[in-house]
Amino acid sequence: MNKLTGSENLYLMGFMGCGKTSVGTKLAQLLGRSFCDIDLELQRREGKTVSEIFSKMGEAYFRKIESELLRELMETTDHIIALGGGTIIPSQNARLLLQRGAKVIWLDVSAEMIYERLKNDHTRPLLEKAESCEQKKDLISKMLKQRQPKYTRVARCRVDANEADIAEIAYMLADKEKTEAMQLNIWVLNGPNLNFLGIREPAIYGTQNYPALVNYVQEEGAKLNMKVRCLQSNYEGELIDWLQDAYDEGVDGIVINPGALTHYSYSLRDAIASIQIPTVEVHLSEIASREPFRQVSVTKDVCIDQISGLGFGSYRAGLQKINDFLKKTVEKNLKIG
Ligand code: DQA
Repeated sequence: MNKLTGSENLYLMGFMGCGKTSVGTKLAQLLGRSFCDIDLELQRREGKTVSEIFSKMGEAYFRKIESELLRELMETTDHIIALGGGTIIPSQNARLLLQRGAKVIWLDVSAEMIYERLKNDHTRPLLEKAESCEQKKDLISKMLKQRQPKYTRVARCRVDANEADIAEIAYMLADKEKTEAMQLNIWVLNGPNLNFLGIREPAIYGTQNYPALVNYVQEEGAKLNMKVRCLQSNYEGELIDWLQDAYDEGVDGIVINPGALTHYSYSLRDAIASIQIPTVEVHLSEIASREPFRQVSVTKDVCIDQISGLGFGSYRAGLQKINDFLKKTVEKNLKIG
């Protein structure tokens, strides 16, 4: 598996015709990154246009190679990636982007604007079913309505791309990225089953889902001038790999909810102890008042603190603890210096 060191990829998402390729090309140039357009890359690899892949091999085949390419690209860094208009439709793709905390930027464009841009474009296989202008308009509206909830779920940031021109959007995104590069770099790691928030035992863990947690954590981090990267895995080894990546990357602080691994994972404890990055252990529920096995944490002693029982608020308190700890360290160093 590739390491997560280097600048995090940025993913541009949105309906066909929203400007992903043009914005992506300009943005990559402004930030000195490589650009990859999923549709163009698939065309290059298959030696066929997207329309030909659809007509000769079928949509299922296209979605399969698209998912494989997305997986491959998610192991890279320093890229600007234009997703295909429908890349986030298969739930495994949306899930992967969410679990990896991918920086997905949604270029949101109205159905009317998309129609204007695509009315004479015949390279979009999904729109070729339409036999008249009216049908094309209706099809765009219908498809956009179906996809909007998915875009909303996966997006880390939404840009109104109706009015602004390509260069304007690219400059704005490049500035945002440069500002973030100066913020504290904090990783929030979530262990097994936390991607099932909202579904799993809502009476204990609440009704809000994992994307809501990611949004909350990012907003709270921004208030503390932190750039927060959220990662979730159901695998112990993957969490350990990420902790080691955090060391290589020089991450400033970590908030971790190890889930049930809290209670028995000595490997996770060893990984936290090895990296010497201030880490706070958090839990949504009050583990001290639950079953006896949950009252034991084998990881808390290698963390600077443990916070539990505040729901999403535990993460906010965890970020605050890291912030206070880092501030104190800076003050101490200044005094010594
Ligand atoms: C948890 C508590 C753990 O005991 C449990 O296994 C979890 C979630 C919490 O956030 O309350 O998965 O860490």
